[in-house]
Amino acid sequence: MTGTEEWLSIAEWREEPLERARALSARAYTDPAIFEREKAKLFRRAWLPVGRQEEWPETGSYKAIDLFGDPLLLARDLQGDIVALANVCRHRSMRMLEGSGRISAIQCPYHLWTYGFDGALRAAPYMDQSAAFDAKACLPRVRTEIWNGWVFVSMDANARPLSVEASELSAKLAHLELSSWRQVAALQYHSAWNWKIMVENFAESYHVMSAHKTSLQPFWPAAQSVGQQTDGSYAELHHSVDPVMGSLTVYILFPTTLISVSEGGPQRMVLWYDLDIVAHDRFILNLRIFFPPADVGNEGAIASAVQSVDFVHREDIPLCEAVQRGLSSRFSSSGPLSHLEQPLVTFHKYLAARMA
Ligand code: FES
Ligand SMILES: [Fe+2]
Repeated sequence: MTGTEEWLSIAEWREEPLERARALSARAYTDPAIFEREKAKLFRRAWLPVGRQEEWPETGSYKAIDLFGDPLLLARDLQGDIVALANVCRHRSMRMLEGSGRISAIQCPYHLWTYGFDGALRAAPYMDQSAAFDAKACLPRVRTEIWNGWVFVSMDANARPLSVEASELSAKLAHLELSSWRQVAALQYHSAWNWKIMVENFAESYHVMSAHKTSLQPFWPAAQSVGQQTDGSYAELHHSVDPVMGSLTVYILFPTTLISVSEGGPQRMVLWYDLDIVAHDRFILNLRIFFPPADVGNEGAIASAVQSVDFVHREDIPLCEAVQRGLSSRFSSSGPLSHLEQPLVTFHKYLAARMA
């Protein structure tokens, strides 16, 4: 089967009601050709989070990233906006800047061509004898949007504005005022499984009764988790509210913005599973922990959050690794889904609509 046929068949399954829903086929997780298709059909068309606005505190603050093979430069410009430009010189294509820091202009280290934060070429030494030289050369620009304090980019000039795409979810999160929350800690894990296994693990609590038997199950039992109907741009999973630990709600703004919100317990907390997707079977997870402004100096609460978040994720790691291994075998089959896995169906419908 070609990649297209594979995804068309998945799209057909998605017409099935929840009672008949099944897991995606193994190829969706193991085939590098499917990953290439995801890059073209999904990641280069979607809105993807690349940081928090506080990472660019002042004019000239910059961060260089790679987005599915394309080097991008995100910088705060003279007007105070965060802009995204191709981090590839118009001379001989050097990837110009690395890491993060502060600059007054974008200068290529190779032959010192210099660009403004609007991407326009400002200076190019010794090019006056070239008839091919174009003084109007400009670094290609990529769209950015700020959403709840996150900086998003989209490489698709025709993508719906994120403010429209995520409007239903925005309304649900508005009371939290997440723009003012700050990262208090971050944990990093090199993860040897397909990114969709991570999304699916995050999206359902069916596995809480086994994997998180002593950590989560006593407060948020698997059987009482409920997937919500949404407009299709995101998935949402609610848990029963524990009298001591409060509520835990999981949101996935498709394709890769994974956020959990803890409220009403000892510590209000947001987790952002920041995925740096490297290959079909590999990504780097930056698990970033956020507190509301009043709590950012609470070292005891931060240490406790780091310990529990790390503990729970380490309970998931061997499961996700073993799923990737099982999917890679000839014996893999697309098993039926439980009603407790409803958010996976929402995710698969999203994928099918874009990948087919
Ligand atoms: S490659 Fe950038 S100035 Fe030559
Ligand atoms: Fe888990």
